[in-house]
Amino acid sequence: METFKMIQARKAIRKYRDEQISDDQLHELLVAANAGPVGMGRYENYRLTVIQDPQVLGKLTGIYGAPTVIVISVANGDTAEALSAGAIAHNIELAAEDQGLGANYNMASLESIPSETVPEGFKPIFAVTIGQTDETFTPREVPLDRIKTNIVK
Ligand SMILES: Cc1cc2nc3c(=O)[nH]c(=O)nc-3n(C[C@H](O)[C@H](O)[C@H](O)COP(=O)(O)O)c2cc1C
Repeated sequence: METFKMIQARKAIRKYRDEQISDDQLHELLVAANAGPVGMGRYENYRLTVIQDPQVLGKLTGIYGAPTVIVISVANGDTAEALSAGAIAHNIELAAEDQGLGANYNMASLESIPSETVPEGFKPIFAVTIGQTDETFTPREVPLDRIKTNIVK
């Protein structure tokens, strides 16, 4: 999809089919995540954990039955890491949409993520829920004052 149309069509998807995303689709999402910008280029301060095990997914709260959750964990939890995690998650979300997958940002699950699934020394800070969806993506009319803006010029 053309980039700007894709941005206009992006939306939170909270309804997923049971069928798992393919490994090729997951690969694209991980490429997109790794293409994300992080503060000072300190990629060593981030970890991605892909959760697809139904037993582990069953322990997570607020994931709307998503068959795949990608957790972004950070070393320190400072502001730069939180912002960077958001950028990584956004890249994943747009790459999901590009493949016709449904995705949504997720903080609701963070406290329920079993600590043994996350690399030692890292703390989950953001997650993305992903799955096949019957929803379609068409550019939306988003009001320009959805985020109040002042222009200084
Ligand atoms: C930092 C952040 C945390 C979010 N956490 C959740 C969440 O835990 N559960 C959820 O359903 N949506 C979550 N969302 C999605 C927002 O609710 C959603 O993006 C917002 O309502 C706007 O809707 P739209 O994405 O369809 O434009 C989160 C979004 C962001 C940016």
